[in-house]
Amino acid sequence: MQKKQLDQTTAPIVEAIEAFQKQGEISFGIPGHKRDAGIDHLMSGTLGNLMYRNDIPGHHGLDDRKESRGTRLKAEELAAEAFGAKQSFFSIGGTSLSVHVAMLTVADSGEKLIVARNTHKSVIAALLLGEVNPIFLQPEINEEWQIENGITPKSLEQTLSMHPDAKGVFLVSPTVYGITSDTKALADICHSHHIPLIVDEAWGPHFAFHPDLPETAMSCGADLSMGSIHKTMAGLGQASIVNMQGDLIQPDRFKLCLKLFESTSPSSLILASADAARRQMVLEGKALLDRTLSLSTWVRTELSSVEGIHILDRSYLGTPGAKALDITKIVLDISGLGVSGYEASDWIEERYKINFELLNERHLMALLTIADTRQTVEKLVTAVKAMATWAHDREKPTDITLPKLDELYAKCVTSPTKAFFGETEDIPFEQAAGRIAAEMITPYPPGIPRIAPGELINQTVIDYLQKGMQLGMFEESFDPSLETIRVVKR
Ligand SMILES: Cc1ncc(COP(=O)(O)O)c(C=O)c1O
Repeated sequence: MQKKQLDQTTAPIVEAIEAFQKQGEISFGIPGHKRDAGIDHLMSGTLGNLMYRNDIPGHHGLDDRKESRGTRLKAEELAAEAFGAKQSFFSIGGTSLSVHVAMLTVADSGEKLIVARNTHKSVIAALLLGEVNPIFLQPEINEEWQIENGITPKSLEQTLSMHPDAKGVFLVSPTVYGITSDTKALADICHSHHIPLIVDEAWGPHFAFHPDLPETAMSCGADLSMGSIHKTMAGLGQASIVNMQGDLIQPDRFKLCLKLFESTSPSSLILASADAARRQMVLEGKALLDRTLSLSTWVRTELSSVEGIHILDRSYLGTPGAKALDITKIVLDISGLGVSGYEASDWIEERYKINFELLNERHLMALLTIADTRQTVEKLVTAVKAMATWAHDREKPTDITLPKLDELYAKCVTSPTKAFFGETEDIPFEQAAGRIAAEMITPYPPGIPRIAPGELINQTVIDYLQKGMQLGMFEESFDPSLETIRVVKR
């Protein structure tokens, strides 16, 4: 029987907030600010009162005491239909929380999971929480661009033949650079082994709403995917969606695990923003994204003639692990300018008040979304061109040479959970080669740990991180100066 189509013009959470406002109930419950009555003047002066007025509780707010209206459930059903999933859940803890819950849904303590090594730090955190035994898959690396791509079907087949007892495969697609794996082929391989494919689609929830964007993980047959509605759609910070389909994932287990982590006072503002962002994309997404894509094409044309800058475009595709490209991300390789991405970004930010989503020693990445306009991208083009002129005029180029990405990968020699929670000691970072890491060292952005708990630290990764820091890399580590590192005690 065909499923009845839902009314996508509705937004149950937003409407529940509106209805609650009209009711005008006096609250003797949370939140303590009581819909703006008790807020600090600095906050009301800066943010206004509206945010607080709409920050209403779940019970006696978005829903009644027994949740009998099913407000959140209805919004999630609409989201499932919009994202092409059998079932969807909102998460108010970002895709980080979605990742944690997904991991606990698919693997029990001590079980094996195949995990792409270019995943976000939240995946490593999830491994620690679930005591999962990772079999790391090295992504394909584009040598010329020094970019990590996706996983190839061949490498997944090989790994699965060595680890037939793996409980599932966890990978990131698209990468932060907007490059997708051949998810369809990867899903087929997983299913031929009767295991689920979980795709971290943090950077791709908008794919569901435009035919010229890469295919979604759901439409490629992935069993579970999660996306940051706050990254590429118009959600508030921390709004995320989890989509699932098929029989290899137990939605009930996901729900139970989500309840373990989620606040018992989920933010109505974040939930409403996810609900509204879904509605907006279903109703207007095609037109809005048409504009974003044409703005991206315009920027690409404008910058294509700037000497010393290369723009990642569709000619990149076809290289291993690069099936499709999301062109709303404008990735520039500026290594030909003799400045680092850090220097270029600082120079631009100071003069043009423009910031980039990603910067490293040789790349700058501008993220375009439905919010961009001709005005914002014109400013971007002007700023990048001016920066290029400044860079060409500099007398001494910056040496941005770092060890190559494929030399950084270390062997995972012990359980990440045991390494992290076991006996540890802090030692000088420069003496860490040959020791087993007990913490994550994560250059941010993009948040891919270069050292993970349980890995044998090698000299190349030490050199990479030290030189990176000299150039301006920001690391998330226990010792922010990275003079010391936490390792497993001998
Ligand atoms: C690939 C990837 N996955 C997950 C996350 C976590 O997403 P969130 O910030 O929504 O928690 C990020 C964040 O940058 C990411 O890049």
